Amino acid sequence: MVHLSTTFFTLLITVLSSQLVGTKETATGPSVVNSVTLDGVTYINKGLVAFGLIPSDFRESTGDTLGGIGSAIALKPNTWTIGGSGQFTGTFIVHPDRGYNVEETINYQARHHEIDFTLTPYYDSNKLSFSSAQKTLVLEYKKTVLEFDVGQKTTSGLDPEGVRMPSQAINSPFPGPLPVVSATDNRLTLDVEGIIANADGSFWISDEYAPGIYRISSTSAVVQALPIPDAIIPRDKDGNLFFTSDDDPETGRAGNQGFEGLTIDPTTGRIYAMLQAATIQDGGDDKSTSRYTRLLAFDVQGNQSTLAGEWVVPLPLSPKDNTETCNEIAFVGNGVFFALSRDGDGRGGDDNNSKYKNADLFSIRNATDIHGTKFDSPAHPIASNGKLDSSITPATYVPFISFVDDDQLARFGLHNGSPDDETLLDAKWESLTLAPVGDASFPDDYFLFTAADNDFLSTHGFSLGEPFDAEIDVDNQFLVFRVTLPGAVLKQ
Ligand SMILES: *[C@@H]1O[C@H](CO)[C@@H](O)[C@H](O)[C@H]1NC(C)=O
Ligand SMILES: *[C@@H]1O[C@H](CO)[C@@H](O)[C@H](O)[C@H]1NC(C)=O
Ligand SMILES: *[C@@H]1O[C@H](CO)[C@@H](O)[C@H](O)[C@H]1NC(C)=O
Repeated sequence: MVHLSTTFFTLLITVLSSQLVGTKETATGPSVVNSVTLDGVTYINKGLVAFGLIPSDFRESTGDTLGGIGSAIALKPNTWTIGGSGQFTGTFIVHPDRGYNVEETINYQARHHEIDFTLTPYYDSNKLSFSSAQKTLVLEYKKTVLEFDVGQKTTSGLDPEGVRMPSQAINSPFPGPLPVVSATDNRLTLDVEGIIANADGSFWISDEYAPGIYRISSTSAVVQALPIPDAIIPRDKDGNLFFTSDDDPETGRAGNQGFEGLTIDPTTGRIYAMLQAATIQDGGDDKSTSRYTRLLAFDVQGNQSTLAGEWVVPLPLSPKDNTETCNEIAFVGNGVFFALSRDGDGRGGDDNNSKYKNADLFSIRNATDIHGTKFDSPAHPIASNGKLDSSITPATYVPFISFVDDDQLARFGLHNGSPDDETLLDAKWESLTLAPVGDASFPDDYFLFTAADNDFLSTHGFSLGEPFDAEIDVDNQFLVFRVTLPGAVLKQ
């Protein structure tokens, strides 16, 4: 009798523990942190699986401090390698915004860098030290490539005071007015926040000033710009172009609230760009009314490009009803996109304690396509004073992955909130890119990479040959999550 019941309990414990392992998927695999259902599809967050950084004082090949790189990241095509030993390798192409500009904008030539990485995902619940955690995503700077305006002129990051009018030539690749340094300095000025790396070695970049979307050739020259609808082009009260980011325009994108989000549908080549928050006429002059932003779609054939769609996306609100602005989007499939929406708190930010830093999901499946309607004109706001026009159905937006999850951060020696030290999560996360895990048991699993824009904040910085001290060291942090995205149509 005693013998029998012991056997029974042993059996029961064996069954229970195998079920427990089953819910963790594999003994060494990831566990489920949370999930969300959108349009009948369940998306799963399997948690933070890697962390890496490049120190704040690292200098790139031109001599400038390497910074701002989380403004835009992409995987270099054909570099993603799924190793048999649980390691993954690849090359990031990262694009800073406009140089060290805490005091004023500078004559920073646009550039991108290549960074090799080795990812060794960490699935355990035990806490790694901050230094051991950095071995899960090892980053190695490779090179810097400077970018040029038409005619091999250098681009600039200076606040634009001038305008270059569009070419009247038939089939010109530049259909709209562009921001330049000044009336006497005709160089294109760029504040880059998004990137798509094409298989042929060219890129699309998105910018906050125009706001613009530009193609950079494989030889690093600006060769094309996409046509931006009138509702978004910044203008003063007399209707004149007003590209400066120092003041808000009367209509169009708000200052420093341009195309933060840029992504592509790899199956059709359709390009999507999203404003960080509402245009001025749509409530963008105040964070309590700026939640209704616009997602645009473009089709490109050679030099010809057309606006192919436009939808309204309702950004999340803080408890005080202020907009959590959106700093990146990433195409998933079936009308679904990631959106990186957040506050500005964390390392290098206003406060130590961040309350919202999320990779969320939204779907445009049921949303009204407003392109080619009166809403393309600044005279017809989609949301006067932040109140959405009743004729418009916005996208469906759902919160998904929180970066400020204390338990997940602690596994990598990181934290949110005080103290303000190098293990505090950076404030300004601005990029997303995805790569398949290649796990036959979980064919819909992807790694979601994100990187922070550290604003070049270093106590030992160099900018255009001159040393600077920004009074704080904010490292270039990277995070990697594992996610399940059924129906995703991503390629790499
Ligand atoms: C679209 O509308 C249908 C019908 O009301 C609903 O079942 C579905 O969940 C909606 N999808 C999204 C993404 O809003
Ligand atoms: C595209 O534009 C470039 C630059 O203006 C021009 O050299 C080229 O001929 C154009 N291509 C076509 C197919 O028109
Ligand atoms: C951030 O943390 C530091 C301690 O590391 C503290 O001195 C500072 O007051 C905190 N800042 C805020 C805004 O709470």
